[in-house]
Amino acid sequence: MNILLLGGGGREHALAWKLAQSRLLTETGDRLYAAPGNPGIAEHAELVVLDATDHGAVIAFCEGQRIGMVVVGPEAPLVDGLADSLRAAGIRVFGPSKAAAQLEGSKGFTKDLCERAGIPTARYVRTATLAEAVAALAEFKPPYVLKADGLAAGKGVVIADTRDEAEAALADMFGGSFGTAGAEVVIEEFMDGEEASFFALTDGATVLAFGSAQDHKRVGEGDTGPNTGGMGAYSPARCLTPLLRGEVIERIVAPTVRALADAGTPYSGVLFAGLMLTSEGPKLIEYNCRFGDPECQVLMMRLEADLGELMLACAEDRLSRMPPVKMGKAVALTVVMAAEGYPGTPAKGGAINLTGAEAGGAKVFHAGTAKADGALVANGGRVLSVTATGSSVTEAAERAYAAVDAIDFSTGFCRRDIGWREVAREDAAG
Ligand code: AMP
Ligand code: GLY
Repeated sequence: MNILLLGGGGREHALAWKLAQSRLLTETGDRLYAAPGNPGIAEHAELVVLDATDHGAVIAFCEGQRIGMVVVGPEAPLVDGLADSLRAAGIRVFGPSKAAAQLEGSKGFTKDLCERAGIPTARYVRTATLAEAVAALAEFKPPYVLKADGLAAGKGVVIADTRDEAEAALADMFGGSFGTAGAEVVIEEFMDGEEASFFALTDGATVLAFGSAQDHKRVGEGDTGPNTGGMGAYSPARCLTPLLRGEVIERIVAPTVRALADAGTPYSGVLFAGLMLTSEGPKLIEYNCRFGDPECQVLMMRLEADLGELMLACAEDRLSRMPPVKMGKAVALTVVMAAEGYPGTPAKGGAINLTGAEAGGAKVFHAGTAKADGALVANGGRVLSVTATGSSVTEAAERAYAAVDAIDFSTGFCRRDIGWREVAREDAAG
């Protein structure tokens, strides 16, 4: 069947690369389309111009090109209800409905669901006015965790050390610093521990573990500086031991999937749980309704199963008949190369030369790249996702950084310490 992939970042390049290897395409001669895509995705898919907010236009394209399944990469079209419009038109889609995507679209929605279902997460209060929020601070101890309720591209969380800082941040949030996302603010208890991400596929009834990863959200080495979409990641996250993973499925993911099904809004697609491994056990930080970026890149490097078949099984509610998802034993690690200025205003147009970068087996996924007069240039904040595998995080990092060093991108930068926690643990273990 023909497949349409929506999105144009490093996550979607990894999805396109893996989908292009699917039997759904290789054994049929059917085609992969991507909108808007990027120059990396163009190696695997035919790029088309489509406005994902124009549901009618997406449906018309699908009908015209006999698209059998739409794969939605980013969260915004899902929270906007694109999957509902496609399903209503009889088109299969990998990604949740608008109602189920509220897991990412509204932090308050998720916290309320956790409370009803007894899912371990930080204690919280939802507030709708500045006065209410300031008063609610009295119920918490510093550091204060303040979250814009809606979508804020991963930047809607403020952790304030003092009451004064918290009040100033709340004034900003209710003053519109996150746009409408900050019309409501969730205040929650600070959780201490190591963070890990867990991914599961679900069709609303069956849950299939898809793998784990650890992200590096801060722009600077040693996890310092402002938050970003993610500067690097590796998979698996060994801190999420098989025992803890079982606990996460049983106490967090499965009850969430059940609660949404019971509410008449079953979740279909990939569920991305951001977790804090606390001394009291794993607790949910947040949910995302899509693959992580750059977590997707490392998961796809390890995936040994047919991605298209798995996505189709989700879309057709037959995940219960699929075998466990097979992941390779190797560790995968990705280093994000960003344009100078990111996460503020990134420099556009910087020249990129990738010749030889993949010689050692690394894979360079494109994120914010473009072609200008036939040459590759930077066209976004996160520009490349340089990914390699190895028998350990240390080895995967060495290979990824060797590829980074082979890339000529003088207006770009990256963190040199991706994987540091695990590298330190591997060093300590000898
Ligand atoms: P979120 O967008 O909800 O994933 O939050 C962004 C980041 O803020 C997380 O990756 C954590 O590092 C941090 N964070 C969020 N909530 C909490 C919390 N309750 N306690 C400690 N850190 C948190
Ligand atoms: N890397 C974090 C995210 O995709 O939300």
